[in-house]
Amino acid sequence: PDVPFACAGGVCGTCRAKLVEGEVDMAENFALEKDEIEKGYILTCQSRPKTASIKLDFDA
Ligand code: FES
Repeated sequence: PDVPFACAGGVCGTCRAKLVEGEVDMAENFALEKDEIEKGYILTCQSRPKTASIKLDFDA
């Protein structure tokens, strides 16, 4: 599927999604606030899965 992105550099937040299941490593983050990260939001352009599968919600 097509996923939203713009800068691909961790700056704009266009690629933001909620991580519903699994874990990721996020390389850079210049867009998300601390409380967003605590709620499970990630920048998908900067994230690599750490688990065999992950589930994302781009509409959350
Ligand atoms: S596309 Fe801009 S932060 Fe991911």
